[in-house]
Amino acid sequence: TAAATAKQPVKVAVTGAAGQICYSLLFRIASGELLGPDQPVQLRLLEITPALKALDGVVMELDDCAYPLLDSVVTGDDPNVVFDGVNLAFLVGARPRSKGMERGDLLEANGAIFKPQGRALNDHAADDVKVLVTGNPANTNALIALSNAPDIPAERFNALTRLDHNRAAGQLAIKAGVAVSEVSQVTIWGNHSATQYPDIFNARIGGRSAAEVVDDQAWLESDFLPTVQKRGAAIIEARGASSAASAAKATIDHMHDWVLGTREGDWVSMAVPSDGSYGVAEGIVSSFACTTSGGAWSIVPGLEVNDFSRAKIDASVAELVEEREAVRSLGLVP
Ligand code: NAD
Ligand code: LMR
Repeated sequence: TAAATAKQPVKVAVTGAAGQICYSLLFRIASGELLGPDQPVQLRLLEITPALKALDGVVMELDDCAYPLLDSVVTGDDPNVVFDGVNLAFLVGARPRSKGMERGDLLEANGAIFKPQGRALNDHAADDVKVLVTGNPANTNALIALSNAPDIPAERFNALTRLDHNRAAGQLAIKAGVAVSEVSQVTIWGNHSATQYPDIFNARIGGRSAAEVVDDQAWLESDFLPTVQKRGAAIIEARGASSAASAAKATIDHMHDWVLGTREGDWVSMAVPSDGSYGVAEGIVSSFACTTSGGAWSIVPGLEVNDFSRAKIDASVAELVEEREAVRSLGLVP
């Protein structure tokens, strides 16, 4: 269409492109859900060599969708080629935890992925690149990537906690018996892990304080928090595979809002390099309430942090600091 050809394509890199999340994510990017109905995209898809054949099949399906906004697709197994000129990068591909693997082993295996990918982005991406890490452990993988990309401003590296944010909003809506559109100002603090803290004290339901609407501390502590914190594990248990469609949806939501701006009167949760706000150790990639405008994010200032919240935030931040120490000792970050 005329609208689709008016703008230059945005170059979008996606790693782990033959995996589960990408089987949903790529089609949404190509359909215009990420950047809007008048913005063409070029997909640049990275996989490991043994998965390139499966990736060819995914590309056949992208072709068969005949998306008017999909300008072209490039595939490959070399990040130095695939990341050439990219404006947006989704780092989804990661090494899943296998049986008997310790946390340290996982961090080391992912270091081998995110260190070279950070370097390749540094050397080849466009000057305006924005990088979102979905692959786990997402926060620390983002820290590894940004630490190996000294020429890209650190704030252009985020990790995904929007899935946790959406999960928390969904649970609040169910509890209050309202549509999820009535829920706003949810905040996920900390790590995308079981220590994350979904904060309802600053959230609102239908314009009222969510904590007051719910008014049930027992539910908060023994139902809501563990449900949101352990949702990823519950889905693995039920489905036999980790969340994929919801993770892709959240990945789109995060980047869409980062590029195009958050809604007036609301905020979103984004894991971003900490500037020390709210006593969160500077430099770690930790989740905060953020607003975005003009392609830049900022941490929402002045939120109430009560004693209950303080202890929960501190625990998740302590875990992130430990992860940073572990990858430091592996020589992956300075
Ligand atoms: P998957 O195993 O189906 O797909 C991962 C793909 O990554 C595979 O095709 C694999 O070949 C590829 N890959 C591995 N190393 C790579 C490399 N160096 N370069 C490029 N590609 C590489 O996994 P999935 O279900 O799509 O999940 C992907 C990641 O996202 C996992 O780490 C998962 O734990 C994580 N995840 C995060 C969230 C979140 O909210 N942050 C939610 C769900 C899943
Ligand atoms: C999720 O939150 O669904 C993923 O991070 C999967 C997991 O391992 O919890």
